[in-house]
Amino acid sequence: MKDTSDIGTPPPTADECLELAWTDAMLVGHGPIDAEHQEFVEVVNALANCSADTAAACLQDLEAHVHSHFAVEKAWMEKTDFPAADCHIDEHERVIDAVQKVNAKLLLGELGLQDIRRLAKALADWFPAHAAYMDSALSAWVNKKTYGGAPVVLRRDLHADQRHAEAGA
Ligand SMILES: [Fe+2]
Ligand SMILES: [Fe+2]
Repeated sequence: MKDTSDIGTPPPTADECLELAWTDAMLVGHGPIDAEHQEFVEVVNALANCSADTAAACLQDLEAHVHSHFAVEKAWMEKTDFPAADCHIDEHERVIDAVQKVNAKLLLGELGLQDIRRLAKALADWFPAHAAYMDSALSAWVNKKTYGGAPVVLRRDLHADQRHAEAGA
């Protein structure tokens, strides 16, 4: 059994470093879903940077967040008769299941910080494609059903952000 008070856990390696930073490129054009996505980025980053003392609280925040985030999307699917709901909800369920399993093991003292960081990294890897495909499709559908057209998404100067990132590389 691992001890969660592993204060000696080394800092994340390059492979474990989180690369989930909010940018306007992640906007899907539906306010309630975009608000959930910004919060998702915050809670996953908090988890990635947690300490042995804060791991349990960060994981509980994440679990509460995924429940509310996915409930918001499910409610919009039901409200608008979204046709591709099943596979989208299945993907949400797999994420909730993974988070609950890690949370349960942490409470039993079976996990250390490295395991927590692995979960944060897995979620950071999973999220961009899910948002770009499944959540964007949901947003487009909800906007079409609600307003009769595709969303107009105003994104700040992504090229300037990219140039800034390249200059710092
Ligand atoms: Fe989402
Ligand atoms: Fe989703």
